[in-house]
Formats: sequence, C-alpha cells, structure tokens
Amino acid sequence: MSNPVSRGVVVPALASLALTGCAATQSASPLVSSPLASSRPLVSPILTSPEARDTSTYARPEEARVTHVALDLALNFEAKDVFGTATLDIMADDDADTVVLDSDGLRISAITDEQGNALPYTVGEHDEELGEPITVRMGAARRITVTYRAAPDAAALQWLDPEQTAGGEHPYLFSQGQAILNRTWIPTQDSPGIRQTWEARITAPKPLTVVMSGLSGSEPVEVDGDRRAFTFSMDKPVPPYLIALAAGDIAFRELGPRTGVWTEPVMLDRAAAELADTEAMVAAAEKLYGDYRWGRYDMIVLPPAFPYGGMENPVMTFLTPTFIAGDRSLTGLVAHELAHSWSGNLVTNSNWRDSWLNEGVTSYFEGRITEEIYGEQRARQEEALSFATVENVLAEAGANDPGTALHQPDDVESAGSEIVYDKGAAFLRTVEQIAGRERFDAWLRQWFDNHAFQPATSQMILADMQANLVAGDEELGRRLMLREWIFEPGLPANVKRPDPQAFAGVDGAAARYAATRQPDAAAWQGWNSAERLRFLSKLPDEMSAAQLAALDSAFGLSGSGNNEVLFAWLRTALSNRYEPAVPVAEAFLARVGRMKFVAPLFGVLMGEGEWGQPIARRIYAATYPSYHAVTRGAVDRAMKAGD
Ligand code: BES
Ligand code: ZN
Repeated sequence: MSNPVSRGVVVPALASLALTGCAATQSASPLVSSPLASSRPLVSPILTSPEARDTSTYARPEEARVTHVALDLALNFEAKDVFGTATLDIMADDDADTVVLDSDGLRISAITDEQGNALPYTVGEHDEELGEPITVRMGAARRITVTYRAAPDAAALQWLDPEQTAGGEHPYLFSQGQAILNRTWIPTQDSPGIRQTWEARITAPKPLTVVMSGLSGSEPVEVDGDRRAFTFSMDKPVPPYLIALAAGDIAFRELGPRTGVWTEPVMLDRAAAELADTEAMVAAAEKLYGDYRWGRYDMIVLPPAFPYGGMENPVMTFLTPTFIAGDRSLTGLVAHELAHSWSGNLVTNSNWRDSWLNEGVTSYFEGRITEEIYGEQRARQEEALSFATVENVLAEAGANDPGTALHQPDDVESAGSEIVYDKGAAFLRTVEQIAGRERFDAWLRQWFDNHAFQPATSQMILADMQANLVAGDEELGRRLMLREWIFEPGLPANVKRPDPQAFAGVDGAAARYAATRQPDAAAWQGWNSAERLRFLSKLPDEMSAAQLAALDSAFGLSGSGNNEVLFAWLRTALSNRYEPAVPVAEAFLARVGRMKFVAPLFGVLMGEGEWGQPIARRIYAATYPSYHAVTRGAVDRAMKAGD
C-alpha cells in the first residue's frame, strides 16, 4: 500500500520518461564493457513537488538529467590539480536542446559530443555558495564530454604534504563531496535527488594507490612509466555527493569476508584492531533492516586532516583516525557510517532541508547497531548523551526557533545541525516506544525497501508512516504526534526521554565533585568512555587553576588517548583560562583537522577576551593552512563570532 501513497508526488509523465528512457539512452559507456551497462538498475524518478526541489543546484533535471558519469582523470601532486574528462550520459526529451550542470571554479577547456564536435556552452555568474551553472547546448547529443581542470583551491579536495601523513614520506589526496562540494572537481548535476551511476579511470604517480567509493576494477596498469591507472565503477545509481576518492601510500587489511580497511601501512595494525567489530556490525544491520545491497563494506582511515568523523561513501566509508582510542569505545562512528548504507545511500534526502532523513534516521539506526554489538548499557548511555545535546540546543536556541524543526528552514547548512541528528534519533526512538519495536522495525524495513535508490522528503516519510505504521489505527496516530515532530520546533510532549539510570553513578559523582572539588581517581578509572564524557560535560562552569590541575593529574586528561575526552577537557580548561592547557591545545589543533574538534576550540579561545584571543590568533596563523576547506570555513566563523 505504501508505494501509491509515497510515489504520488512524482509527476506521472516524468516518472514514465525516467523509467523507459534509460534503456535507450544508457548504452555501453566508454570505459566499462556493455554487460555491466545492460544490467544497470533503472533510473530513479525525479521528484518534482515543490517541497522536493533542491535549491542548491542549478540543474533542471526535469528538462535534461545526467544518468551516468564516466571520469578519466589524472591526479597531479606537483601542481595539486586534477585534469581530464567527464563524459556524461544525459536523458532528455527528443526536443530538449540544453543541459545545465553545476560547477564551482572548474576550468573547462572544451565540451564535445561523441564525434568530438565542440558544443557551445556558457558559464553563468558565480555565486559564493552555489558556484556557477554551465549551460551546454547539446542539440541532439545525449552523451557529452567535458574536458576540465580542478584547480588547487577546489574545496572538495585536500592535498596533503607528506608531513601531514602518518608515514611522512608521500603526499596524499582525499575528497569530501557532501553537501555541495563535488561540483568543485566533477562537472555534473550536483543534487542528491539526481542519482547517477558512474565509473572512473584515475591515474596517480607511483607508489600511490587510489581508492574510490565504487567497486574497483582489474589490477592497476602502468602508464607513462611512473604512473598507474586505477579503475572503478558504481553500477547502482547514487546521489553525486557520494562520489569520493582518496590517494596515498595506503595498504589494505581484510577484516572479514566482505569487510576490510585501507590506511597508511604504519596505521594498519591499530586501525584493524579498532575496526574488528565491523563484520559483525554489517550482519547486525542486515538482521535489523534487510540486506546490505552494496557488495563490499570497506573503510579507509585517513590522515587526521579529514574534516569529519566519518563520511558514508558507498563501499568505502571514510574515517578520521581520531576515533581510534585503543578500546573500540568510539566505534559508534562506524555503526553510524554503516547505517547510512540504508538511510542516506539507499533512501536519500531529496534536498538538504530534509537531511534528518539521512542523519536522524542513521543516528537512530546507529543506536540499534550499538545495542546489538555492545549491549543495552552502552546503547542507553549513548542515547542519553545524544538527548542531552538536543536539550542543550533547545535551551540555547529556544523551543520556538524554526531551526529546531526536523524539516529545516535552510538548505545546505542544515545538513550538519545537531537537531537533524539528535532530535531525529529521539523522534524515531519515541515512535519505536509508542508503536512497539516489532511494528516499528517492520515499518522502517519496508521504508528502506520501497524507497531503495530513490530520493525522499519529509512529506513522503510522514505519508508512509501514516499509511504503513499507523495504518488506520487512529488512536496510535494521535499518540505519535508525527506531524508535530517533523514540522514543528521544540520537543513534542510525547518524547521518549533517556533512562535516568543510564548515568546514575556518574551523575552522582559529578554532583559530589561540584560540591567538594575533590576528583575521585578510582571512580574515573572504573568508567567507560561514555561515562567519562558524561562526567566532563557536568563539570562546573567556573573552575580554578588549582582545581583544573588536580583534575588533570588525577584523571590524566591532557594525556588522554581518547580524542573525545581530550577535546572535552580542553574545552573546559580553555574556557577557564587554564594556562597549562594551551600547549596541549596547540598540539591538538596542529595535529587534528576534524571540524567538530577544531572550530569549537577556536571559538572558546576567542570568547576569552584579551587572554584567549591572542592565543587563538597565534595558533590560527600556524595551523590554518593545514585544514580542509570545510574546517577553514568553520574556523573562520568561530574567529569572527568571538571577535
Ligand atoms: N554524512 C555525515 C557527514 C556530513 C554531514 C558531511 C553533513 C557533510 C555535511 C556523516 O555521516 C556524519 O554524520 N559524520 C559524523 C559522525 C557522527 C555523528 C557519528 C561526524 O563526522 O562527526
Ligand atoms: Zn551521518
């Protein structure tokens, strides 16, 4: 019953164009032989309802849409640029004459048809956020080739000098596409609702190895004596923000029959040990919500400059090395990125205002994997930490702030807001509790199945819940308060609050500490990572230097090998102008480029007036060049806000 309801928003004429047109237009692609091409899944329909519209793309997919991208690119580590071609298959009505692509700073030298004839094109006005449209007069052509260069300042790409790697000998490159950065290195329609299959041939200097978010082809072949060519393909249609690449001196270690990890050789042992639960996580996820549909699940542990904790690039999750704590205590990150293989990569927000469909559903799913692998207690504790985040955001923003609704008022910036993650997860936990786990799980599984490889909106999930979960049970419908959860700010009255016992011991200890200021080293020793983070989050706002020194020496905070603990400690220490924490913060900010850690620490320092601002500026001058564009942007905002 769900399909007629949820797909009702597709304009029928377009849906049929999308479904019938692809066989005709997707003939054999230039790099992959035809058997693959003929087994390619159907192109997913374009959603044309106003609420589904992506305002962050210049593309007009209802007129002409890209269905397949074939990249042939050379990575140039001297010039720090990428040069080559992107060949795009385009689906359009016979009389369609133009196709609009997204670009942000691409240096295009030619656009040609399949016979090599130049096609006229215009590059529109540049917008700071969105880049610029490329309008191609394709005429009758339905396959076009763009020859271009992505300059060293392409925001998706970070080129690392050898000193920024663990091995210290070879340069490194990685990309980060979400939300709208891939248009800085791939000329395509950069919108999550415009799914595309893709393939790539990438050359890199020896001895570097290239990996991508697609299955890799045959063994690399030598070209030009000192380079190797790697091939990849993704035969399932994906939103283009999920096309990703990394190149460096990396090696592979198998973890299980379909799981493995890539990282620099000196990192392999530590990375593999930390990721030892991955195969079991995939099995747990499948048991919960259905088959893993992507073949392999590999990961790459990147250098610490990677701006995120993780990124769910299909078949190749990208991970920060800062999650390695030596005790698998921060592997909720892996559960999270794995869960995106369903929520986000199978069913995808059609625009970034609905990123809770990706991140909120994933955060809920992450919790369920955590429960399966690490047990109830850890799951309840991580739930309580997540819920505390919602409460903090609401306390700060106010419960009437439109930005606290799951369906967000703004586009791109919403994708990373805590509301979409933590309120999103709280919503689904509430629905689970009220509907019952069995009924809820059956509903979520069919949501993934019935919307696999398709974009979705808030309106669609609401309609789907009403049709397939509430299913005529009016009393249940009233109790769930679905519409309020999705579209209204604040927290609905039916919210499932975390188990107050989850941190009973720690919260007691935190209260005692606040009263006595005597650190209890034995208690700290007995706590797990979540409990330690909870304790640190409950420290009094005002602490003296002597108290901070005693705390640091009792708990070994400055030397913690758990980066979440170290970050929480530095935050508290710097906000109390604790001088001995400055060199520790300086070293941390030089070593790590993860935005979530870096930007708040600059923010705290800038908030500490004449004490903190000179320190912030001094560290900034030294570390800023080593950050990814995403982190730079966040750091610049933090510097301005505190000014
Ligand atoms: N998809 C996100 C990362 C992202 C979000 C990139 C928005 C660009 C825009 C990824 O899955 C994620 O959520 N990462 C978190 C992991 C955490 C919630 C476990 C991170 O990087 O901290
Ligand atoms: Zn995520």
